[in-house]
Amino acid sequence: MSERSIEGVLAFEALDSRGTPTVACVISLAGGAQGCATVPAGASTGRHEAHERRDGGERYAGRGVRDAVAAVNGEIAALLRGRDAADQAVIDAALRDLDGTPSLARLGGNAVLAASVACALAAAEAARVPLWHLLAPGRPPLLPMPMVNMLSGGAHAGRAVDVQDVLVIPVAARTFGEAIEHAARVRHGAAVELHERGHATALVADEGGLAAPLASNEEALEIATRGIERAGIEASLALDVAATQLFDGESYRLVREQRSLDGAGMAREVAGWAQRYPLVSIEDPLSEDDWEAWRLATDLLGTGVQLLGDDLFATSADRLAHGMAAGVANAVLVKPNQAGTLSDARETLELAQREGYATVVSGRSGDSEDAWLADLAVGWRSGQIKVGSTQRSERTAKWNRLLRIEAEFPAAELAPWHVAQPRSSTV
Ligand code: PGA
Ligand code: ZN
Repeated sequence: MSERSIEGVLAFEALDSRGTPTVACVISLAGGAQGCATVPAGASTGRHEAHERRDGGERYAGRGVRDAVAAVNGEIAALLRGRDAADQAVIDAALRDLDGTPSLARLGGNAVLAASVACALAAAEAARVPLWHLLAPGRPPLLPMPMVNMLSGGAHAGRAVDVQDVLVIPVAARTFGEAIEHAARVRHGAAVELHERGHATALVADEGGLAAPLASNEEALEIATRGIERAGIEASLALDVAATQLFDGESYRLVREQRSLDGAGMAREVAGWAQRYPLVSIEDPLSEDDWEAWRLATDLLGTGVQLLGDDLFATSADRLAHGMAAGVANAVLVKPNQAGTLSDARETLELAQREGYATVVSGRSGDSEDAWLADLAVGWRSGQIKVGSTQRSERTAKWNRLLRIEAEFPAAELAPWHVAQPRSSTV
């Protein structure tokens, strides 16, 4: 029997960084190697994501995951025992078949992803290489440009502002270490600016961003811009509007500003922000099924600004292919738990890379101390990563993992910033 043959599969109910239950899974191989993975979870969850299985009932206000854990320890364990942990594609296809539904609604996407990632980590340990190396054998590591949260709103911060994250991209950095230092410096500048305007800065939101209730979305962009000026370095802003959360089925409601906009109005509003502030990347400016307004936003902004689909694409190759055919967006967010297996997430990322869309590997608002996401970004050569702010350990776990890879491979390059120009836009 091979050293890499799966022997033990043990799932348990763990806690994510918000104190909400999540599935964790340990996979043990015949040769003694182990992989342990904890599944992240979102707050602004899109309707096209893989199904997140929750127990309901009284425990943890219905958010328990005992049923998903039981699925891993029962059916999934029976499926995986005896298989080669390094056969990721075969394992992920078998997990999908076992579930039998397109959205992994029967076993739960959270059950399936825990097993999928734990297999990859066990296979890497068995091969005595880091996960990123297993994913990209023979290639030097490519460190992703970080997109770092500064100010939080929306579902991550009690709707302090309508938009969910205002972030910094340290575009002038030449190394990953310098990129993180630049991001921390700009965040500090924004905190000082907030303080001087009379806001509290000690409390942080789900992803470690500053969470001051502000009068308008533009005030948040203004404070972030002042943060860059105070830092005295060259850096740019990114925005995650998370507009699915603002859409009531008919219009986009900017609650703090007591305004409602239709799709075209929202696209023009966001385009105005891009003119007035140093924004180079805008995520989910429109809702997850508002293709028409997304198309308008792409026409208004798509050549100079990264237009990043999160809820829109939900890490689905089918939805991304649809967006490409419709000439929508130029970048895709890649969240493994939206896809449900590592292979599905990778397929979406590779489709994007082939067609010239940018890729941003992303954590969730409910994350864990695990750092495998950083290895995915390096091994898959995503070019960008988004895991929250420079505070909170579930965030710094990923930054620190990337800092370690850079320390171990001083020649590793930091992916330079640029706005992708998809093939579909040039034909
Ligand atoms: P979520 O937020 O994890 O709460 O969905 C992250 C994002 O919208 O990018
Ligand atoms: Zn998002």
